[in-house]
Formats: sequence, structure tokens, C-alpha cells
Amino acid sequence: MKQSAIFTSNRMQVKWPMSGLNQTPLQPGEVALVGAGPGDPELLTLKALRYLHSADVVVYDRLVSAEILAMIPESAERIFAGKHAGHHCIAQSEIIALLVEQAVLKRRVVRLKGGDPFIFGRGGEEMESLAAQGIRVHVVAGITAAAGCAAAAGIPLTHRDCAHRLTLVTGHPRGEELPDWQGLGHPEQTVVFYMGLHQAAAIQAQLHVQGVPGDMPVALIEQGTLPSQRVVRGTLQALARLAQDLSSPCLIIVGHVAALNT
Ligand SMILES: C[S@@+](CC[C@H](N)C(=O)[O-])C[C@H]1O[C@@H](n2cnc3c(N)ncnc32)[C@H](O)[C@@H]1O
Repeated sequence: MKQSAIFTSNRMQVKWPMSGLNQTPLQPGEVALVGAGPGDPELLTLKALRYLHSADVVVYDRLVSAEILAMIPESAERIFAGKHAGHHCIAQSEIIALLVEQAVLKRRVVRLKGGDPFIFGRGGEEMESLAAQGIRVHVVAGITAAAGCAAAAGIPLTHRDCAHRLTLVTGHPRGEELPDWQGLGHPEQTVVFYMGLHQAAAIQAQLHVQGVPGDMPVALIEQGTLPSQRVVRGTLQALARLAQDLSSPCLIIVGHVAALNT
């Protein structure tokens, strides 16, 4: 017979019929890498919410929205482990040490990350380090910024007429090097740059070198999915100028789909 559970937050109540709900998903000493989505609390998954409700401690990032933080039960300790571009609040090695320490204390640990933990979220590094210490790791997918923000802006990331391929690129790779630009010039694809705001001039110049025309549509989405969302549209030749008026977090979408709208 199916059981049901009700999770509440100050914003919503979720009645959720599903078997096995009496079992907490996390055992003492285990860690869950949980994706919080791009910001809108309604884009948090039911699974993520269930893990949050079983946590003794939640270690969270800067991009986790205030409304999602409000869903963490009061019984759970919260630890901020956010990083700001350029100046880290806590080094990655310290975050991993913190997760290990909490797991060794036999607490149920949720590592809550913006978007999806495995897309430009260092979830892979954390999973490997925890597993190397013999700690069981769960991973809960989240809606990544590209999917969440594009939908909120009415931009289809693929389209049978003009976008047969989707490429996600970090504008902030390890070692401050710029991405490998080869292949990003194909006209019938969509390229989404994460952390690309401060690289907008380089993105514009390098895509031009790869043969992308100056009139290729671009869209910049700041604070996507949140009430403060701003969407700025233009063309590749104006990308660097458009970026000057925006601040992080911001996604850059390049491709014909960037001109489409609901
Ligand atoms: C460190 S990456 C984390 C990505 C995350 N793991 C994901 O799957 O979305 C942070 C970058 O994601 C993008 N981003 C995340 N949330 C965003 C939002 N609500 N609006 C616009 N861009 C966002 C920005 O490019 C930001 O600099």
C-alpha cells in the first residue's frame, strides 16, 4: 500500500504519495550532494526536499537562494561554505575536510549546491574525496542553471530548425585559461557559458575567430528564475558591452535560439 508524507515550508506544502517514505534517505555518517536548482524554490526537486528533511547538518553554497534555505528544518545546523569569484570564503580542501569531519561524527550531511552538483559544481571532486575516505555518498540531481534560466526566459536550448547541439562551457576553467574554442563555432548549436560574465570580451572575440557571425543572437540572464531576473538580448558583436551592465550570477547563451521568446 502506498504511504504519503507531507513536507511543509513557510512557502509551500507538498503532499507526496510514495512507498518507503518512513525510511530516511540518509544514514548517520553518510553525505548527500544535493542540487538546489537555479534559485526559484519551486524548482527544488521533491527528492532534494526529502534529503533536506533528513539532514543533521547542511553545508551550503552562495548560490542557494534564501527561500530554499528557509526549507531547511530548524533542527539541522547550517554551515555556509560559499565561494565568491576570485576570493574563496573556504578553500575547496577545507570544504571536503568539513564534510569528512561531519560524516565521521556520524551526522547525516547534506552538501547543498546551486543548480546540479555535477555541472560546474565540483561535485565530482567532493564525491571522489569522500569515497576515498570510505564515506557513502548519495547524489541528488538538480535543475542546472542553463535549463532553469533558459526556460524562465522562454529560450528553447535546442530546436529542430536551428539548434541540433547544446554545449555547456565554463568561462572560468582551472588555471584561468579560456575554453578550448574549437567546435564552438558551429552555426546550428547553442553554447551556454557559465561564469562567463567577466570573459565576455574574450568570448566575443574568440567566437568571431571561429567564424560565428557578429549578428548571431545572444542572451544574458542575470539572477535567472528569481523575481529579480533580468534578460538582456542582443547580438554577438555587442556581447562585451551588454555584459558591462550585468552582474553575477549570469549565464550567456549564444545561438539562434537566443532570439526566440515566449
Ligand atoms: C559555479 S557555477 C555553478 C553551476 C551550478 N552547479 C548549476 O548546475 O547551475 C555558477 C554559475 O552558474 C550560473 N548560474 C547559476 N545560477 C544562476 C542563475 N540563477 N542565473 C544565472 N546564472 C546562474 C552563473 O553563470 C554562475 O556564475
